[in-house]
Amino acid sequence: MNKQEIFQAYNDYIMPTYARLPYIFVKGKGAKLVDIDSKEYLDFFPGWGVSNLGHCHHKVVSSVREQAGKLIHLPNNFYSLQQAQLAKELISVAFAGKVFFCNSGAEANEAAIKLSRVFGEGRRFEIITFENSFHGRTLACVSATGQPKYQEGFAPLVPEFKIVPFNDIEAVKKAISPKTVAIMLELVQGEGGINVAEKDFVRQLRRICDTDKLLLIVDEVQTGIGRTAKMFAYQHYGIAPDIMTLAKALGGGMPIGVMMAKKEIADLLRPGMHASTFGGSPLVCKAALSVLRAIRKEKLLNKAEDSAVYLNKKLAFLKDRYKTIKEIRGLGLMLGLDLNIDGSAIAGACLKKGLIINCTHRTVLRMMPALDVSKKQIDKAVKILDAVLSEKAL
Ligand SMILES: Cc1ncc(COP(=O)(O)O)c(C=O)c1O
Repeated sequence: MNKQEIFQAYNDYIMPTYARLPYIFVKGKGAKLVDIDSKEYLDFFPGWGVSNLGHCHHKVVSSVREQAGKLIHLPNNFYSLQQAQLAKELISVAFAGKVFFCNSGAEANEAAIKLSRVFGEGRRFEIITFENSFHGRTLACVSATGQPKYQEGFAPLVPEFKIVPFNDIEAVKKAISPKTVAIMLELVQGEGGINVAEKDFVRQLRRICDTDKLLLIVDEVQTGIGRTAKMFAYQHYGIAPDIMTLAKALGGGMPIGVMMAKKEIADLLRPGMHASTFGGSPLVCKAALSVLRAIRKEKLLNKAEDSAVYLNKKLAFLKDRYKTIKEIRGLGLMLGLDLNIDGSAIAGACLKKGLIINCTHRTVLRMMPALDVSKKQIDKAVKILDAVLSEKAL
């Protein structure tokens, strides 16, 4: 198929659920993506938070190749070495507990919601979530999501989610009722515009959950696996959640989701209560193992921290130069530039000049480069953004 035939096939045969940009990428390596016309792009938003190791990391590629030749899938009524290894490794870098394997962030959150309901024993079922949150596209997850635009057209929603302002501890206290069973949040709201949870707010949430016997669910689908320069964002806060959900970067590009629960509640989902046909196949688990090992071996958390300092410094120069940039926010390599104009034209112009970034929440330019992004790549990206801002902004 040529370019036009590909566009036509999408038009004819694929549901129009995405606003797609007219680019067709065919290859990737590290921070580089190559399109169908052999033009190269610098990817500062790899895979919407999936490719924290960059595209086609050699360890992920070799693990997938090797495992695909041995065994791709096994149903979950059997045991597999790779699942056992990955579960053990995840627990060793997180907190004492157990994991449930699924295939996506929404499924991981769905599992967290179901586990909370079981924990509530039919008497407590309300879950408090936050304005501007994003938890995925299943019906329960859009009901939990604090952005009406994701809910439009899908009423009636799943009941018993109470959505309150982010970083507002009094609003949380007010919302808690005898029916409340859990509080669920992203520590850095990604789709909601890179809003960072305040330390004191999170510590108070932890205290409230302990006192009222509520579950603290941390959605680390976007923040996890080194994105914030720690393996998990909660590790910045000196707390541990009761439930954590993961997906995106864990599989190095392979689809995987994980719901992890502390050991006191991890056995509540008994055989038959929850399941996933594809969840935790040997192939995806092997890929995820190679991701975790690469992060450790290549010291990617340290590299991400250094790169974040450098990128922040560079972006601060841009903020000094352009009044259009209101604020730079973020944690580690999850950064947002909040503009006083619509950012989509800026992101679009960057793409034309060979830089992939994202615009979320209308005004926020989001950058989430690979954890080992180099200074040279940061310089190049900032130069492109500077050129675009000088054309389009003040
Ligand atoms: C914080 C958060 N939770 C959940 C999801 C949903 O993940 P998935 O698209 O894998 O279902 C996303 C996706 O962007 C996310 O950012």
